[in-house]
Amino acid sequence: MQAAALYRTSIGKKAIMAVSGVIWIGYVVMHMYGNLKAFLGEAAFNHYAEGLREMGAPIFGHLHLLTVARILFVVSIVLHVWAALSLTQQARQARPQNYATRRVVQANYASVTMRYGGVVILLFLLLHLMQLTWGVSAVHGEFIPGEPYHNLVTNFQSLPVTLVYLVAVVALGLHLFHGTWSMFQTLGFNNERMDRLIRGLAWALAILVPVGFASVPIAVQLGILS
Ligand code: HEM
Repeated sequence: MQAAALYRTSIGKKAIMAVSGVIWIGYVVMHMYGNLKAFLGEAAFNHYAEGLREMGAPIFGHLHLLTVARILFVVSIVLHVWAALSLTQQARQARPQNYATRRVVQANYASVTMRYGGVVILLFLLLHLMQLTWGVSAVHGEFIPGEPYHNLVTNFQSLPVTLVYLVAVVALGLHLFHGTWSMFQTLGFNNERMDRLIRGLAWALAILVPVGFASVPIAVQLGILS
């Protein structure tokens, strides 16, 4: 088969989902870890946020590598959503009538979680960028450009905003769990020994990433970060 035609097959689309998913897994793990710098204080957090813009120096100039990374993330997310929609459509076409038995309840549960969870994560991401990157005043009234720590803390002084973030990071945890699991199934790692390892990795991601992310808004709500 020609390489160009591979993307049309379900294996090709699952591979696209896996590669774009791994790029985002790498990003969320680093982002969660970076956010923990908030516990080191305002200066450390602002220095880290500024450092992101200088990433790759002295080879890359101000914002250069960050711009490359942003393009990669946008392309990855578009491909991930496209492949997901396309695989769902393909599966529907392959079996137009719904299953009648209860044996598929588990598979349905996972695919429903992935689909609705994915939509929740996308909507969250849009809100998140509006609040903490673009500083849209309708959703973050106290945003000051170039003051990431101040923007972070004032954002989570609102309880409703904190609750939205907590729901989103739980959705992200579920998505990471099932996504990691299915990715390894697609790659063919499904013998008994590998199963345990993959399940462990999926659990670790599904717990560490949401707990790490949630710690910052919770700390602001508890007055630990101010
Ligand atoms: C409680 C959870 C989170 C907190 C406290 C948080 C915090 C932040 C902050 C402070 C920024 C702005 C950094 C800056 O401009 O200097 C940011 C940017 C961003 N965050 Fe988050 N974040 C959280 C969760 C997430 C999640 C779950 C995702 C992805 C699914 C995500 C994706 C992004 C992206 C894509 C950017 C823009 C990066 C850029 O291109 O500059 N964040 N986040």
